[in-house]
Amino acid sequence: MCGIVGYTGADAAKGILVDGLKRLEYRGYDSSGVALEVSEGGTTRLDVTRRVGKVAGLESELANLDDASTCGIGHTRWATHGRPSVANAHPHVSCDGRIAVVHNGIVENFQELREELEGRGHTFRSETDTEVFAHLIEDAYAASHDLMVAVRDACSHVVGAYGLAVVCADEPGVIAVARKDSPIVIGMGERGAYVASDVIALIGATRDVVMLEDGQYARLTPAGIAYTDEDGAPIEPDVTHIDWDIDMAEKGGYPDFMLKEIHEQPRVVRDTLVGRLSPSGEIDIDELGLSLEELNDVDRVYVIACGTSYHAGLIAKNLIEAWARIPCEVEAASEFRYRDPIITPSTLVVAVSQSGETADTLAAIRDARIKGAKVFGITNVVGSPVARESDGVIYTKANKEIAVASTKSFIGQVVSLTLLAMLLGQVKYRLTTNQVRMLFRELGDTAEQIQHIMDTQGPAVHEAALACKDARSALFVGRGMGAAISCEGALKLKEVSYLHAEAYAAGEMKHGPIALIDQGFPVVAIATKSPTYEKTVSNLKECEARGAVIIAIATEGDEEIGKLADHVIWVPKVRDAFSAITATVPLQLLAREVAVLRGCDVDKPRNLAKSVTVE
Ligand code: F6R
Repeated sequence: MCGIVGYTGADAAKGILVDGLKRLEYRGYDSSGVALEVSEGGTTRLDVTRRVGKVAGLESELANLDDASTCGIGHTRWATHGRPSVANAHPHVSCDGRIAVVHNGIVENFQELREELEGRGHTFRSETDTEVFAHLIEDAYAASHDLMVAVRDACSHVVGAYGLAVVCADEPGVIAVARKDSPIVIGMGERGAYVASDVIALIGATRDVVMLEDGQYARLTPAGIAYTDEDGAPIEPDVTHIDWDIDMAEKGGYPDFMLKEIHEQPRVVRDTLVGRLSPSGEIDIDELGLSLEELNDVDRVYVIACGTSYHAGLIAKNLIEAWARIPCEVEAASEFRYRDPIITPSTLVVAVSQSGETADTLAAIRDARIKGAKVFGITNVVGSPVARESDGVIYTKANKEIAVASTKSFIGQVVSLTLLAMLLGQVKYRLTTNQVRMLFRELGDTAEQIQHIMDTQGPAVHEAALACKDARSALFVGRGMGAAISCEGALKLKEVSYLHAEAYAAGEMKHGPIALIDQGFPVVAIATKSPTYEKTVSNLKECEARGAVIIAIATEGDEEIGKLADHVIWVPKVRDAFSAITATVPLQLLAREVAVLRGCDVDKPRNLAKSVTVE
């Protein structure tokens, strides 16, 4: 889950690499570095600069370097093997310093390779798994004097995942690129060739890009790009045209991406629903690739996912069981794959992943398919591994999400899963077309309702955030749908504000957690009007009696809750099935506001990365 970039062309490479790394920082930001080719007196050498911390630090360090270099590679790291340090930062170089490598992925057999290479006289300077690539390529280059041949040879010894970019001082202007199980995007602009882990680092230069596939290699030069397979045979990869704008990747006037992305949620709801209801009142999700008969045979659903995506699964369980009467289990992907879940050909596995590259979710998908399940992916990233490895895929329409904490993609996931639950309800003859039409209309109405919350609840969110700001811990409680929603509220708060938060089904409080409550302890309650509303209110009274500060997310017009809660954030009245879509929005705003008040870097919480490609 690191980010890599590379450029070779007519312009100065330094600025292009730094700009690319800044755009990729969401993939990890504990250290960064670049290797630039420098020509002096008719020879070329590599100039490597590495820094611990965010890319801004690297940029200052590079300020003294002139702009003569027109070829280089760069990296922003999220540590896996080896702590964040200059020695462990990429690029890693060969013993003779003439080959430099940046890598996103993991070398599973690195210990064995390292011992072999050390046995052959190589000296390692870092604790990373990546460094083996530099040494393997060095040996292979000594034999072949051809960078592409050397890179292919090195990759053939590696077990694991890699998106790799390599430069060699003996082949100036060339960047060798390889890919297995880690994203690589390549593009040719007017002024040179570019490579990166994510298209966001490229779209300023070109909109026609190649998403490299596993086992494919590329040789970038200022004059063009040559693609080959793993035997070195030329190939013609597919070109994808990117039609979204670079402005989408900018903050659009908001102080941070998290707030901007929260504000995009009405659009996400609308876009996710476009074309999903046929004129005759059927939910239309063609991309699933299963006939209605096959869907009708489904007798068990597993939703597998991690983190926020897992919470979207908790919401979906309520809907699938209510509307389709199919048992639905939600499992953390990291657990699912190590159990022996009951899977038959009529089991449907729904894998949910914003990034589409979460290692645990991917491994669980592979496992489920081997065991005979049909797998649907729900992801935000077109062409991502989750999309490619599933039998069918629904794309959430969140567009690029930059803030590390998921907000708009969660809403996209919940809306997509709601559509899937409606479809299953329909094929199981439990929902009529009239019911589906009505649900669909109400689901669409949530776009305006979210907008209304954002337009009106800012001051209430701010007051509630002040009540949490200096707390040591907070509890999030609810029942039914509210219990699932509270899980997401607690995760959001802890990840962006570093304030400890836990979610509990409100009825469980008296079985232990209520012992935590003393004067001023914040309890955030999902207390919207629902079948369990009265019970939730009773549970809150128990907390109030023990001194808790109650922050309620409540339905507009509810007079009772105002008497009990210290702070109320109002949401419009919606059907309980859709309460997750509206009630999550104030929780996202609350988490962000507390983080801002506590001086946290909202978009880049410590220790996290946007895409988690290690297990
Ligand atoms: C929290 C968050 C993470 C991700 C999790 C799974 O805000 O973003 O918990 O939800 O790492 O990531 P994806 O959805 O990309 O599989």
